[in-house]
Amino acid sequence: MESFKVGIVGCGTVGGGVVKLLLENAKVIERRIGKKVEIAFVADKEIEKVKRLGIPEEKIFDDGFKALSKECDVVVELIGGTTIAKEIILKAIEKGRHVVTANKALLAESGEELFKKARERGVSLKFEASVGGGIPVIKALREGLSGNRIKRIYGIINGTANYILTEMTEKGVDFETALKKAQELGYAEADPTLDVEGFDAAHKIAILSTLSFGRWVRTENVFVRGIREITPLDIELAAEFGYRVKLLAISKVVDGKLEVRVHPTMIPEEHILSSVNGVFNACLIEGDFVGETLYYGMGAGERPTASAVVADIVDIAMGNTYDVPEELFSDDEKLEIKAPDDFISSFYLRFTAVDRPGVLAKISKVLGDYGISIKMALQKSINVNGGVPVVMTTHPAPKRKVQEAINRIDSFDVILSPTFVCMIEEL
Ligand code: NDP
Ligand code: HSE
Repeated sequence: MESFKVGIVGCGTVGGGVVKLLLENAKVIERRIGKKVEIAFVADKEIEKVKRLGIPEEKIFDDGFKALSKECDVVVELIGGTTIAKEIILKAIEKGRHVVTANKALLAESGEELFKKARERGVSLKFEASVGGGIPVIKALREGLSGNRIKRIYGIINGTANYILTEMTEKGVDFETALKKAQELGYAEADPTLDVEGFDAAHKIAILSTLSFGRWVRTENVFVRGIREITPLDIELAAEFGYRVKLLAISKVVDGKLEVRVHPTMIPEEHILSSVNGVFNACLIEGDFVGETLYYGMGAGERPTASAVVADIVDIAMGNTYDVPEELFSDDEKLEIKAPDDFISSFYLRFTAVDRPGVLAKISKVLGDYGISIKMALQKSINVNGGVPVVMTTHPAPKRKVQEAINRIDSFDVILSPTFVCMIEEL
């Protein structure tokens, strides 16, 4: 039987999972595709880690570059980061090897260069595991929805952030404890600030947007806010207004421009995305013919991510070398990226105000002066920083106007701390 040789660089959470899957499910894969998928080598700085998985010594390397001298059909880059990983991928491409990666940070930063190089060398660069962990969302976009114009994407695409928010909402666990647990479970990035500051989700929505909207979208094109500023109080108050707080990645064409953003977002609690909890991810993708579609599954961790990596390996072994759309390399006019100040959204505003007559009227007057219409308002009789929380939601308004109004309101001496602002998406 023909065999297809795989070289794995990086044997941590994901790499270890890929080795386990290829060994445990070797027969399943072989029967399915009529080829043996064989591990040619595994490289990791710590060779004991690889030995423990049952890989024979002659196939183990302590350095990714050394390993590349060994023959294989596909190199799987799973070390992460944007420096050595990039060099490894470039070297593999230069040697005429197909490449599979889960490295969204690298693709969001250097995708254009890497895909061009792969194309010039006639090899494929596949990246299913880079978005949504085990959910085959890249395949859905590239293949299942290929006949559609994509209208909008809403994604809960960071497992760590969703896990933290769920633990805080449902169990009252504090932020740091929830983050530590996510790290122990292998969900978080080596640098977890990427998860909690929203950049991992930004890398992922940049990739999905690139596949969907015919232009390269990079991290710097994404408006990003993380979840650190979310307090249990805001989660509780959001619930009183009928919302759940999610770190939502959004990509949509509005007034002929592409709006790409990641930030804590209040979404209606009855919407299906509100029930995506823990490490689960979901992507809602709307196409012009298909309408709304939804993809759901485990968004991080050893086994789900290995499942996505192996799907790419199997695809290449089967001759499906499809990676990014052709239109990205054309000179056609590209969609412009919308400036964050021009976003139109509804807002949740939590003022920390002195509990005194006339304060509510003062706040409302400023909002009115800036043309911002209040939808709902609530004052809580609890002490926050020596004041009381006054919460308002607004009808859709330009982000710039809301920020200007907040700056004005926050300058009043009856406002005791900076106003907390969160965008609302009615979906
Ligand atoms: P880990 O840190 O668990 O694994 C990376 C491994 O690569 C480590 O064992 C590391 O060794 C090793 N390594 C680093 N440099 C080299 C090198 N030059 N040669 C050989 N081995 C090296 O990371 P993950 O498995 O979690 O993530 C890997 C990639 O997958 C990242 O791009 C990540 O963003 C992505 N990803 C991760 C998911 C997850 O759930 N964890 C899900 C989806 C994507 P050492 O630790 O000693 O540095
Ligand atoms: N750190 C990432 C997450 C891993 O939590 O979603 C999956 O890409």
